[in-house]
Amino acid sequence: MKLLVIGAGGREHALAWKLARSPRISRVFVAPGNAGTAREDGLVNVPITAPPELIDFAQKEGVAFTVVGPEAPLAEGVVDAFQAAGLKIFGPKQSAARLESSKEYAKSFMARYGIPTAQYAVFEAAAPAHAYLEEHRAPIVIKADGLAAGKGVVVAMSADEAHSAVDLMLTERRLGASGSRIVIEEYLDGEEASFIALCDGRHALPLATSQDHKRLLDGDCGPNTGGMGAYSPAPVVTPAVHAKAMREVIQPALSGMQREGTPYVGFLYAGLMISRDGTLRVLEFNCRMGDPETQPIIMRLKSDLVGMIEHALAGTLDRAEAEWDTRVALGVVLAAHGYPEAPRKGDAIRGLPAPQDDYHIFHAGTALNGADIVTNGGRVLCVTALGSNVRAARRRAYEIAEQVRFEGMQYRRDIGHRALSGGVR
Ligand code: AMP
Ligand code: GLY
Repeated sequence: MKLLVIGAGGREHALAWKLARSPRISRVFVAPGNAGTAREDGLVNVPITAPPELIDFAQKEGVAFTVVGPEAPLAEGVVDAFQAAGLKIFGPKQSAARLESSKEYAKSFMARYGIPTAQYAVFEAAAPAHAYLEEHRAPIVIKADGLAAGKGVVVAMSADEAHSAVDLMLTERRLGASGSRIVIEEYLDGEEASFIALCDGRHALPLATSQDHKRLLDGDCGPNTGGMGAYSPAPVVTPAVHAKAMREVIQPALSGMQREGTPYVGFLYAGLMISRDGTLRVLEFNCRMGDPETQPIIMRLKSDLVGMIEHALAGTLDRAEAEWDTRVALGVVLAAHGYPEAPRKGDAIRGLPAPQDDYHIFHAGTALNGADIVTNGGRVLCVTALGSNVRAARRRAYEIAEQVRFEGMQYRRDIGHRALSGGVR
């Protein structure tokens, strides 16, 4: 069987790598992929991104099914287009992807189905938004309604910051159409975890839990990024929290989407805020797997991902099981010079060690330049290692990361610190 994975990041490298390890798979095409997927056994890059060309390609190659990595093609309706052409593809349709592509839709959906989340209000004009901020004091959170590549959320710790964020989005229109409508929501305190489930429209199969580190610098300081590292499992997701997440979030989301006439098929990612007393609220839904959470999650998956996705496509996920390595997996992102503001491309990457059973280096922003592998984006690599506990996985990941060299390489030295300091603070 041949498969196709759409995307070019670390998440797609990890998904494609895992799919290709299935004995039933002869080849996994990655469109467009990166230098890591180019060099991996069983993976073949295809330099196309436009849906009509992807559809042609999948038909010509007799691809059994396609897996979509990032949110942008899902929000643009790539699943609808493939299905209209009679092709199997795993991901939500455009209407269901609104859970991520419109924060306002996600918030009102949660309100309709009683899914716990922060209180909020929606604004399209600056004056009422400013007035609302006079009544609802900082800390408070301002979110662009649309997709904004990780730049659409401002956690304002002061009134000044909150008012500036409103002006930036609604007056200066700095985020374009994505920020022409905003959600202002209550600030939630607690510890975050990523809760991702495979969904077939009716049933959900939860994946291993994970946590990522969104800030650029050690100690969770500095600007927000796409994620500087992640680990699985997330100790904050105790068995009780896990059961609650399924009962209060994932199941009602699935039945709600069915009721709305947009059944949810795909990876459903709930970003959870878990407070000290175990109360749980949804910060956001994503309609895809997390990046870099996918890398440690996939390192721990022992089951055949191909079979799991086939169950999801057939609507029989209630008969599927996922078996996880009991070890901890931890991934450290190596980012480019200038990330996240202005990542530099073209720096030669040296010292990449060959993969071993207990680690894999997943590529994200990399490209081939002759014989060289060079940086080609903000997050360049994610060194992902397994260990018998967080400390061991972390030691191994950093041992490997320290062998890699490129000009301007940035990485955090403290990935996993929350898991080491013992759960909710
Ligand atoms: P989002 O894209 O909605 O996940 O927001 C990005 C990040 O902003 C989240 O991972 C949180 O760290 C933070 N955040 C979002 N919403 C809230 C909230 N209501 N309270 C506190 N922090 C938040
Ligand atoms: N790492 C966060 C995300 O993928 O949304």
